[in-house]
Amino acid sequence: MNPRTVYLDHAATTPMAPAAIEAMTAELALVGNASSLHASGRRARRVLEESRERIAAALGSRPGEVVFTSGGTEADNLALKGAFWARRAQDPARTRILSTTVEHHAVLDPLHWLANTEGADIELVGCDATGRLDLAAMKAAIERDPASVAVISVMWANNEVGTLQPVSEIAAIAAEHGIPVHTDAVQAVGAVPVDFATSGVDALSLTGHKLGGPVGAGALVVRRELELTALVHGGGQERDVRSGTHATAAIVGFAAAVELAVKEQEAYAIRVGELRDRLVEQVLATVPDTHLNGPPLGHDRLPNNAQIAFPGCEGDSLLMLLDAAGVECSTGAACSAGVPQASHVLLAMGQTDEQARSSLRFSLGHTTTPEDVDRLVAAIGPAVERGRAAGLQR
Ligand SMILES: Cc1ncc(COP(=O)(O)O)c(C=O)c1O
Repeated sequence: MNPRTVYLDHAATTPMAPAAIEAMTAELALVGNASSLHASGRRARRVLEESRERIAAALGSRPGEVVFTSGGTEADNLALKGAFWARRAQDPARTRILSTTVEHHAVLDPLHWLANTEGADIELVGCDATGRLDLAAMKAAIERDPASVAVISVMWANNEVGTLQPVSEIAAIAAEHGIPVHTDAVQAVGAVPVDFATSGVDALSLTGHKLGGPVGAGALVVRRELELTALVHGGGQERDVRSGTHATAAIVGFAAAVELAVKEQEAYAIRVGELRDRLVEQVLATVPDTHLNGPPLGHDRLPNNAQIAFPGCEGDSLLMLLDAAGVECSTGAACSAGVPQASHVLLAMGQTDEQARSSLRFSLGHTTTPEDVDRLVAAIGPAVERGRAAGLQR
C-alpha cells in the first residue's frame, strides 16, 4: 500500500474544515436566491446575512463592511480598481498608487493594468533581504505629494516567504493625509491575529480556500466611507459594488471556516509553528549548504511558512523529485510556458536569478502531523543530491 501523500502546500489551498463542509453541504440541498422575495428567498437571505455577521464578528468589522466576492483575486481587483476609479473621479490629480515589490500577482497585475490602460502612476516600494518593506521609503513616498495618492496597498503577510508587513504603521501615516489603505490579508487570517477595526486599514481582502473554507468564496472588508466604483454591474447585490447572485452555500461554508480559523488561531499558530520550526531545523541539519528565506524563525513571520533555498538545485526539478517521493510542495513562483521563472519576491529581496530559482516553499496547515515532517526530512536528502547532480551536468 502506498503511504499517504505528505501535503505541504497549504498556502496554495488547504483542506476544508469538516464544520465548513457540513454547513455548506446542508445549504447545497436547499433552494433560494437571496434576492427573491418569497419564503425560500427570505430563508437564503437570512443565512447570507448571518454569514456576514459571523465573518464581521470574527474579523472585528461591522456586518455592513463585508462585501462578498469569489475570492482573494477579485477582492484585490475590487479594492484597487474600485478605489482608484472612485478617488480619481473625485479629484483627477489623484493618479498615484503606492504598493510594494513583493505583493501577490492578484495585486501587482491589476496595478500594471491600471498603469497601462488608465494612466495610473504605480510606485512599488522595495524591501530588505527578509522581504520586509522599507517603511521609511513608504513614508517618504506618501509625504512627497500626499494629495496625488489615490490608494495604498500593502499585503499583511507574504505568500512566498511568510514575512509580516507593518500594515498598521502604514495605515497610521496614511490616515494623517486622508489616504485609504488596502491590505491583502489572504495568507494572514487564521494564521496571525487580524482585526479590521484596530488595524486602521480601509479595505482588507480574504479568501475561503486558504483557511478551511471552499474555493470560490471570499470577501473584501471595506469601510463604508471608502467609495468603490463597481467592476461588475448587474442586479445590484452587495450594496451595488459587486453584482451577481449570491453563492449562498459557498458563503455559508466560508463563514463557518472563518469563524473556526479565527477562534483557533492562537492554538494553531503554536502547534503548527512548532512543527514548522522542527521542519526547518531538521532540513537544514540534513542537507548541507541550505538556508531559510525570509525572516528568521520567531521573527515577524507566518507560523506555517518555510521557504528553503537549496543552492545548486533547480527548484522545479526538486519539486518533481519530492512529488515522486510522495511529498507535495511548491516553488512559490509561477512557471510560464513550461519555463521556470525566478520569483519576483526573491529577486526583490536581492537574490540573483539562480538563487531565486533554487528555493522550495513548504507550507503547513491544520492536517499537518509530525510524521509529515519526518517523511519530508527522510526524502529531502536524496532528492537534493539528485537535483544537485543534475544541476552540475547542465
Ligand atoms: C497573498 C495572496 N493574495 C491573493 C491570492 C489569490 O486568492 P484567490 O486564490 O482566492 O483568488 C493568493 C492566493 O494564492 C495569495 O496568496
